[in-house]
Amino acid sequence: MPTYQVRGDVPRKRHVQFRDNGRLLTEEVMGLEGFSGNESILYHLTSPCRVRELGDFEAIEREEWVPDAHAHRHMHTAGVEPAGDEISGRRLLMWNSDVEISLCRPSETMEFFYRNGEGDEVVFVHEGKGTLETIFGDLPYREGDYIVIPRGATYKFAPEGPQRHIVFESPGLIEIPRRYRNEYGQLLEHAPFYHRDIHPPTELKTYRDSGDHTVKVRVRDGYQTYVLDYHPFDLVGWDGYVYPWTFNINDFEPITGRIHMPPPSHQTFAGQNFVICSFCPRKLDFDPMAIPIPYHHSNVNSEEMIYYVDGQFSSRKGIEIGSITLHPSGIPHGPQPGLAEKSIGMTETHELAVMCDTFHPLRLTTFAQELDDPSYAYSWYEEPDAVTEAKTADEDPAGVTSHF
Ligand SMILES: [Fe+2]
Repeated sequence: MPTYQVRGDVPRKRHVQFRDNGRLLTEEVMGLEGFSGNESILYHLTSPCRVRELGDFEAIEREEWVPDAHAHRHMHTAGVEPAGDEISGRRLLMWNSDVEISLCRPSETMEFFYRNGEGDEVVFVHEGKGTLETIFGDLPYREGDYIVIPRGATYKFAPEGPQRHIVFESPGLIEIPRRYRNEYGQLLEHAPFYHRDIHPPTELKTYRDSGDHTVKVRVRDGYQTYVLDYHPFDLVGWDGYVYPWTFNINDFEPITGRIHMPPPSHQTFAGQNFVICSFCPRKLDFDPMAIPIPYHHSNVNSEEMIYYVDGQFSSRKGIEIGSITLHPSGIPHGPQPGLAEKSIGMTETHELAVMCDTFHPLRLTTFAQELDDPSYAYSWYEEPDAVTEAKTADEDPAGVTSHF
């Protein structure tokens, strides 16, 4: 999506003969929005329609938790035990018709190739590194990367070491916000990242192997398994605008101001009825009268999910690395008592967090229920006679999160 890319060999024109050792290659257009959106053209050794055996279809089942009360939520994910592989190990936390948000701590190796046939994916790599092996070539990834995988891209994780992923899956397109781009698609000077921060696949490898290869494809709210008699990464070349890529959260250039900058300044991706934002270490508001943390806000028609990646959250009651807060629509949220006062004079924050704001309500799963801390909803409450202490000598200003 970010720019035109080409890997391997492609013919001088579309729709002309292109051969490999005399064999006519199969040209496939992989495009979005009919034939009007971005597309890539792939040159296969074997027809991508060729299937040796249709396997099972496994419907996705979501176990919903409908809480007794509508309230702010805090989930502790740090202690979740590893399970499954990079696909089967995705444990759904919350979802709506626009986005599904899962935690994945894989313990097994993928024994199959995978393709999401009904959604784009963003995999935030909280811990781990490795290579996403894809039909478009190898895509190395590391801690802090967002791996953006367009629908239709066949892939397999080749991890190195333990992994902890937060996965966003959406039936809509995952895009770079339009206001960051000029009419030609180039990222503008005011955007918080540039093309050099975007990493497409490095190397195309053409696999000529025969024999059974299993491909699992997400379609129709389930997983359909196909058995091929050839390796699915059989491209001799491709070009276009559709391919997987990475962007590292530490390459996000924070936008700061004399007084508080609103959450859209942290936007990283635009989805269909949701956004993904990166809260990164940065200098804070420099007006002498500034209050560096946000005012209270009513997300009247938005839900706000934040995943805490790194930094000091000690002044936010109970928040730790791996915590997720969910501030649902319809009720206000904001800094807890005393924090606005405490934040005055802060000059920088070391927080690192990923936020997903949705326009439509998120439903929760029983997995989220297992991780839920029911006391969080009361974390703004003070006994009527309690005295809120202003800033005290032993408090660490850097321990205040700048956004929640
Ligand atoms: Fe907020």
